[in-house]
Amino acid sequence: MITRPRRLRKTQAIRNLTSETRLTPSMMIYPVFVREGRNIIEDIPSMPGQKRYSPDKLPLILERAAKANIGGVLLFGIPEHKDESASSAYDEDGVIQQAIRLSKREFPDLTIIGDVCMCEYTSHGHCGIIKNNEVDNDSTLEYLARIALSQAQSGVDIVAPSAMMDGQIKAIREVLDANNFHDTLIFSYAVKYASGFYGPFREAAGSAPSFGDRKTYQMDIRNVREALKEALIDIDEGADMLIIKPGLAYLDVLKTVKENTLVPVASYSVSGEYAMIKAASLNGWLDEKKIACEIAISQVRAGADIIITYYALELAEWLR
Ligand code: PBG
Repeated sequence: MITRPRRLRKTQAIRNLTSETRLTPSMMIYPVFVREGRNIIEDIPSMPGQKRYSPDKLPLILERAAKANIGGVLLFGIPEHKDESASSAYDEDGVIQQAIRLSKREFPDLTIIGDVCMCEYTSHGHCGIIKNNEVDNDSTLEYLARIALSQAQSGVDIVAPSAMMDGQIKAIREVLDANNFHDTLIFSYAVKYASGFYGPFREAAGSAPSFGDRKTYQMDIRNVREALKEALIDIDEGADMLIIKPGLAYLDVLKTVKENTLVPVASYSVSGEYAMIKAASLNGWLDEKKIACEIAISQVRAGADIIITYYALELAEWLR
């Protein structure tokens, strides 16, 4: 006999008791933009409510993250100086290195994740080294490894490579192990589509490519088997956890990857997803809280163990 479904909907307490999906602050990661300078907190126009902080101002937001008990903070660095080889990304005194050291000193229990990419640090805005007018996969690997190592030396808990170069996980794992950072985790953006949803991020980080696009290294939005292939290769190369990105438009991909792998899988609700919810709710067209919760639940329902979202702090606070 199949029981009457309605009985399980009788009260809020019973609905909570029997719900199939649970959201907890510990599964949420909050992305934060850190820009070079002092005494700066500036608005990001296309992401109302999100800001860029200079390292000295970072504790303001980290304190909120620590109090909300979220799973971690994902740091993006925005340097003053950009060049062909992204040298500010592996400078011992670079903005991201300063931010990591300060974060771990002031909030030792808060998990700090560093985005490992070159696009915020290159003069051309691409995620790698340019040769003959295109991004050269193999010469980029040594730079990504250098960036990851310098973040590990600054004390980062987890590195998150997002450049979409083939072989980047292997290159990073090897350099970390060779330098005795056996316990630094790799959270791979294994599945990253060439998406229109990154628009506001590129404004926030000043990382839009100055020529061409990222379609030769980021994934074709029409493919899902390819996503599983990327995921399996990264696991084989040593990825501890995977990211599927963007979030909402790629829940089918998330589900496929989750069902065919054994590592924790994260769904990243990117800048454009945040901007859409924000814009509609600022116009009074949607209920922000309801929509942000509904999307987060859909990510978990589709199989996400972790969600990376600009709503992480609000979600964790609303859950109280
Ligand atoms: C760096 C990177 C990007 C995002 C995360 N890491 C931008 C891009 O690929 O253009 C986007 C995140 C967001 O939109 O919230 N490569």
